[in-house]
Amino acid sequence: MLPRICIKFKLKYIVSVALAVLMLEYFGAFTHMFEADFERTFSYPMEGDILSNVYQLRHRQRPAVDPINTYNYSFISDCQHKCKEDDRMIAPRLVLIIKSAMENFDRRVAIRKSWGWEKRFSDVKIRTVFLLGRPAEPNRQLQSLIDLEYANYRDLVQADFVDAYFNNTIKTMMGFRWAVAHCPRAKFYMFADDDFYISTKNLLKYVRNPVNYPEYLEETDEALRKLARRLSQTTSNNNSSQIQEAAGNSSEKVPPHGRRSKRQILNMDMELPNDVKLFSGFVFRSAPHRHRSSKWYVSLKEYPWDMWPTYVTAGAFLLSHEALFEMYYVSMYTRHFRFDDIYLGIVALKAGIEPLHSEEFYFHKAPFLGPQSYKYVLASHGYDDPEELVKIWNEVRAAGYA
Ligand SMILES: *[C@@H]1O[C@H](CO)[C@@H](O)[C@H](O)[C@H]1NC(C)=O
Ligand SMILES: *[C@@H]1O[C@H](CO)[C@@H](O)[C@H](O)[C@H]1NC(C)=O
Ligand SMILES: *[C@@H]1O[C@H](CO)[C@@H](O)[C@H](O)[C@H]1NC(C)=O
Ligand SMILES: *[C@@H]1O[C@H](CO)[C@@H](O)[C@H](O)[C@H]1NC(C)=O
Ligand SMILES: *[C@@H]1O[C@H](CO)[C@@H](O)[C@H](O)[C@H]1NC(C)=O
Repeated sequence: MLPRICIKFKLKYIVSVALAVLMLEYFGAFTHMFEADFERTFSYPMEGDILSNVYQLRHRQRPAVDPINTYNYSFISDCQHKCKEDDRMIAPRLVLIIKSAMENFDRRVAIRKSWGWEKRFSDVKIRTVFLLGRPAEPNRQLQSLIDLEYANYRDLVQADFVDAYFNNTIKTMMGFRWAVAHCPRAKFYMFADDDFYISTKNLLKYVRNPVNYPEYLEETDEALRKLARRLSQTTSNNNSSQIQEAAGNSSEKVPPHGRRSKRQILNMDMELPNDVKLFSGFVFRSAPHRHRSSKWYVSLKEYPWDMWPTYVTAGAFLLSHEALFEMYYVSMYTRHFRFDDIYLGIVALKAGIEPLHSEEFYFHKAPFLGPQSYKYVLASHGYDDPEELVKIWNEVRAAGYA
């Protein structure tokens, strides 16, 4: 009797240990044990001093080492005209580059008449393009609808790669390439997915003072109130030189009625220097998923470290001109990685650009409790319903925050 119980017991024991081991393996416990320490050992091909090659490439010299990575897909439509007039006229202040899927026609319609509207401001030049790939199987009907849409709006940048989730890095980098090739003189570039709400008005305020946004606006409001009080005393005698002094002697003309608009006063704020490398959005520090059922599962072979580099979630991020160019050329010396936000994190690290976090880029949907709740929101995820997007945007715009 006794030995049989023993065997049974042993078997049960072995089976449960084996199960436990399998479970641990499935949830990635052993993988975690073999991860390399990011802080001490992170390095990513191409190794070495790539920045001198980047410099040479950017300045049209022959680099010592040729690029190892180009996203050299051809453009089916390249929207060359978008920023064409820049040679003679002022360059765009903000370019909106929206990652979209071919079939999302109604989202693009909604974005065109809300936050993507190029004529939103009479005095700030904005340009909008949608980035598309192509379907895995040729689909002539879908493509002819896209061609029609292009003929109507002339705002689609379509590139010849298969539009799939794990090709997002290709899509993003084709956006960089398009901007460098066809819209190279803009001040800021905002990348966003087509299920986002964006406030271009707030973005334009953000880029004036990103580190102190939105607090600096509150201070500006206080300064404005003070100024208004002083103006109300001085305007009584219509003396323009006094008003000019109260406003801090800007070179701008003082309107004949003596009152400066709020916008004019905001324009006197500091402007970021042209060479600033701003790469901003919702910034994450996180670890790779080793859980085998995860959509984002990564093997040790693909990425051996225990942490990702600091990265900005790819749904919405903002770049200054200098950051866009530097990161584009650094990407040519950075091996491809299939998650676009991680890839840009690696590129930024190699470029020596530290991503800037702002809570006003909402990775989830920013709760909407009336327009006031969106006073400072720069971007919010979760607007896959085009009607909702237009409705909310109109409300927030009417309140002056979009
Ligand atoms: C990109 O592709 C074009 C045409 O396919 C080719 O002429 C060009 O040399 C390629 N550029 C690079 C950098 O690979
Ligand atoms: C990504 O695009 C390339 C080029 O079109 C294609 O060969 C590849 O199969 C695509 N990848 C996925 C995951 O669909
Ligand atoms: C100031 O200007 C207003 C409008 O331009 C005018 O009606 C008013 O008489 C002026 N006041 C003085 C003191 O000049
Ligand atoms: C306007 O103000 C300046 C400086 O405060 C003063 O010198 C000048 O006399 C004033 N002019 C008039 C017309 O009040
Ligand atoms: C403003 O301009 C006046 C003359 O136009 C000058 O005397 C004064 O010093 C200036 N003030 C500032 C703060 O620049």
